[in-house]
Amino acid sequence: MTSGAQPASAGGAPASVPRHVAIIMDGNGRWAKARGLPRAAGHRAGAEAARAVLRAAGEAGVQCLTLYAFSSENWRRPAQEIADLTGLLRFYIQRELSNLHKEGIRLKILGDHNAFEADVAKMVDKAVEKTAANRRMTLAIALNYGGRSEIVRAARAAAAAGEIDEEAIERALDTSDLPPLDLLIRTSGEHRLSNFLLWQAAYAELLFVDTLWPDFDGDALRAALADYARRERRYGGL
Ligand code: FPP
Repeated sequence: MTSGAQPASAGGAPASVPRHVAIIMDGNGRWAKARGLPRAAGHRAGAEAARAVLRAAGEAGVQCLTLYAFSSENWRRPAQEIADLTGLLRFYIQRELSNLHKEGIRLKILGDHNAFEADVAKMVDKAVEKTAANRRMTLAIALNYGGRSEIVRAARAAAAAGEIDEEAIERALDTSDLPPLDLLIRTSGEHRLSNFLLWQAAYAELLFVDTLWPDFDGDALRAALADYARRERRYGGL
């Protein structure tokens, strides 16, 4: 399931619909600043955008949506902003869990969420457990996630199991049970991966858009999927 080097036609869905879309949701702070609002208001608007994009992705037939909500580098932000983001995560899970479950969406976490306050970590565990058998779609949220450290952890696990090759590392990545990453989007005009899904991005199509994340909506996602559908993927072949 995890090999990036497969044509997108496998599995019945039209080849032009990416199986797995990941998003670096950037620009919340600038969106708020442009409106004279506190950064927390930008993150709140960003959480609403995440809701709309999840719905649009499901309707389009995307099997997995991965959102970069908190990087392992985000701990360097001021304590108040970390508290705001943690509070938002708590609120989002409280409000969305029953909807996610009703919609047949499985929640999956990439990274180590145990670094968050104990009540948040427990709430996340419960949400993951409750939705574990859902099959219509997967929402993967990256929390305290860093791509390099994921690769190091996977390499250690592979070494402990006796063999370090690409398959063994893929099996040990946080994404081992997700479809191959087909499309990686970053909003807000920045052209960087910022330590997100480094291994998984090897064959992904990359899309950088100028839209600030809170303004990215269902239409913006559909435009991104249309852009993806126009691209020709060769996986190193001709
Ligand atoms: C980047 O904008 C965004 C983040 C660091 C946090 C992303 C979190 C959310 C959208 C809310 C939580 C979502 C879920 C699904 C629980 P920035 O603050 O770096 O913006 P800037 O570059 O304009 O300052």
